[in-house]
Amino acid sequence: MTGIAFGPGDASTLAPQVNALFYALLAFSLALGTFLTLLVVVYSVKYRKGSDVPREGGRLRPMPVEIGWTSATLLTAFAIFAWSAHVYMDHVNPPPGAIVISGLAKQWMWKFRHPGGQREIDELHVPLGRPVVLELGSQDVIHSFFVPAFRVKQDVVPGRGNRLWFTASKVGRYHLFCAEYCGTEHSEMIGSIEVMEPEDYASWLAAQGEGETLAEGGERLFHSFGCSGCHGQSAQVRAPDLAGIWNRPVALASGETVIADAAYVRDSVLMPDRQVAAGYRPIMPSFAGLIDEEELQMIQAYVESLGGQP
Ligand code: CUA
Repeated sequence: MTGIAFGPGDASTLAPQVNALFYALLAFSLALGTFLTLLVVVYSVKYRKGSDVPREGGRLRPMPVEIGWTSATLLTAFAIFAWSAHVYMDHVNPPPGAIVISGLAKQWMWKFRHPGGQREIDELHVPLGRPVVLELGSQDVIHSFFVPAFRVKQDVVPGRGNRLWFTASKVGRYHLFCAEYCGTEHSEMIGSIEVMEPEDYASWLAAQGEGETLAEGGERLFHSFGCSGCHGQSAQVRAPDLAGIWNRPVALASGETVIADAAYVRDSVLMPDRQVAAGYRPIMPSFAGLIDEEELQMIQAYVESLGGQP
């Protein structure tokens, strides 16, 4: 929107869509509310006690009027639904070629890890004009990732992965809030998003140096948790080789076929008895309680790095 700045400002490509929908619904509600209020006032005066107007008449609701308002209401509701659904689908489907950044919520901070392993807390640097996908997880309770200027908000629910995307459209610094009450210091669980020109972002990343990437962390855990003792070429015990399975179909002993995506890896680690591959015995122990959300993200990234379908 141009002119007077209302609210938090517009700093993502999703913001204008949300604004248009919001102002259209506001205008529609105002117009309808005003019209109905006027009718109430006009008829209250016209039919006030003792007024000189005919009070008996034909049908109260003639058929054309009945059909007219029913279909007008229905069509309006459909139009609002179609428009909102379109905006919603844009919100949940990231465009291809996004930078994937890991985000972890915990009482009471936001932890981020860039693809090159650079890490930040309560602050996130992103480049202008490039889609960013945040793979979110919670270490404890439900939090909510909320950046008003981007018009994005996503609950971060423990025990499952949550995803959010945006493309920043204006250089600057924007508020990040936790928008779900999560304990004593919920109100302190705030941070900022720094939108930089792509070249500034590149030099910022370079200045941070490389850190351990999620996949590297996953490889480290794969050995320290003992996964490599069963999964892999040199393994003593026979378990499925994970190389090349990412996003590919896997046949289970139950007869089902599932896609080896992030949720599959998570479930295999936490509830291995439900994910036994066809031809194998259910001998893998559950790692529930032993592995945290960040480590799960690492294992997922490691399996992804072993190849398969991008
Ligand atoms: Cu985290 Cu509120």
